[in-house]
Amino acid sequence: MLFFTKYYISDIMKIATILGTRPEIIKMAPIIDEISKRGIDQIILHTGQHYDKEMSDNFFRDLEIPSPNYNIHVGSGTHGKQTGLMMKGIEEVLLEEKPDIVLVQGDTNAVLAGALVAAKLHIAVGHVEAGLRSFDMTMPEEVNRRVADVCSTMYFIPTEESAINLLAEGFSRKNMFITGNTVVDACFRHLEIAKKKGFQEKELSELDIGNMDNILTLTMHRAENVDDKKRVTNIIEALKELEYMNIIFPIHPRTKNTLQNFGLFDELNDLDHVHIIKPIGYLDFLQLTSLSTLILTDSGGLQEEAITLNVPALTLRYNTERPETVTAGGNILVGADKGAILGNVEKIMKDDEFAEKMRNAKNPYGLGDAAKLTVDAIEKYYNEGLLNIAAPEDIMTLFTRKMAQIDEDITVSEFEDKKNALVHMAFDGEKMVFPKDNLNMKGMMITYDARE
Ligand code: UD1
Ligand code: UDP
Repeated sequence: MLFFTKYYISDIMKIATILGTRPEIIKMAPIIDEISKRGIDQIILHTGQHYDKEMSDNFFRDLEIPSPNYNIHVGSGTHGKQTGLMMKGIEEVLLEEKPDIVLVQGDTNAVLAGALVAAKLHIAVGHVEAGLRSFDMTMPEEVNRRVADVCSTMYFIPTEESAINLLAEGFSRKNMFITGNTVVDACFRHLEIAKKKGFQEKELSELDIGNMDNILTLTMHRAENVDDKKRVTNIIEALKELEYMNIIFPIHPRTKNTLQNFGLFDELNDLDHVHIIKPIGYLDFLQLTSLSTLILTDSGGLQEEAITLNVPALTLRYNTERPETVTAGGNILVGADKGAILGNVEKIMKDDEFAEKMRNAKNPYGLGDAAKLTVDAIEKYYNEGLLNIAAPEDIMTLFTRKMAQIDEDITVSEFEDKKNALVHMAFDGEKMVFPKDNLNMKGMMITYDARE
């Protein structure tokens, strides 16, 4: 009788999604939906970083996605403690569930913890919204997204500009997929549903937002703004002078806490033109955004949603990892500078041509099919065995890094086939361009990795 080892190869892929905060639930919802529609096995793991129902449960309800299979309830805490607890909890779940790939989204502590744990268990990591860079290492998010990229196998990248950031750091183009941002999928899918339903939150219907003019929607929660008394005071001084606006401010719990600790909350809440409300659900927020004349924010997601919904945005930061919104003309960085905030609000309100130009800025985040493109790529990788993490069989010295000036009509994939190479960077004059498979490289200087 013959005895042989039977290797069980599951032909049903299992995807684990790790999320922990409001924006991750919103931006992963279209992907979770797409995975379900295709009948792929999936588990959802919530770290519990956001736990108030206004910051978590309400989004599973509004976006109609299944409740998490696991919640490891890490709660609030310092970065080290929170991330450490997440890593412990995530490891236990991944050891039990053995997914083929772990998806993380964006730049929160869940992304750092999830990517690190999965990489060490030799489970492939797919980073959704990869490649963003603010180049500001004082931001916890910049640390998180950089580490996650180092640990990832697949990169789902919103724009060419973010893909170039990854190329510049040496990541392989092979594993990059420019998908657009899933926030566009979420916006397009839910705005009409939201409008049909009308405002769900009593506070919003009581404000009669539908009949209000000059709506300025404000959100802020970024540590560098709300934990800094000087900066938050400057912003509040500007808000006080914007009496001609109706400011709707769904306040993040972090911001409410710090404003109360600084003794600034009551002063702001007493202003007739400022309406502070609790954080609202996604359907309500989409309606509020689309009825707004402008957005004042330090949120990442909201910079993207504003340009998607043709609403001018002023961003309360001095840098952004979403520079495409600024170069497209839909977003202006005003920092925490009172003069810049007041000057730009006035310009948008009084200069119709200027405001119209901001509204017409082209959305750089794709067509709303990011979730489909993401799951297509994951299925392809799974079917080709590319999600298996193994030590390389070749030693790196078999590859030589080269440069070339291209003088003929040749696309990236033709060049790669001909030379058994992988094109890394391409320069059109001084400008770096992303070497898409079908890019004609004639006249460009390129760098590439070739097998000797
Ligand atoms: C986190 C993310 C940030 C993301 C934001 C989205 C990190 C490092 N930060 O910031 O990138 O933009 O979520 O909103 O991952 N709190 C509550 N109830 C909750 C959640 C938080 O009261 O449900 C309060 C607690 O006092 C907590 C504070 O808010 O200490 C900050 O919460 P935390 O999750 O640490 O960071 P965020 O500012 O929410
Ligand atoms: N949002 C919401 N209700 C609110 C405030 C924001 O649904 O009261 C949504 C908003 O539409 C966007 C996301 O939350 O999609 C942004 O989350 P947040 O600003 O907390 O995080 P960031 O994007 O900065 O990481």
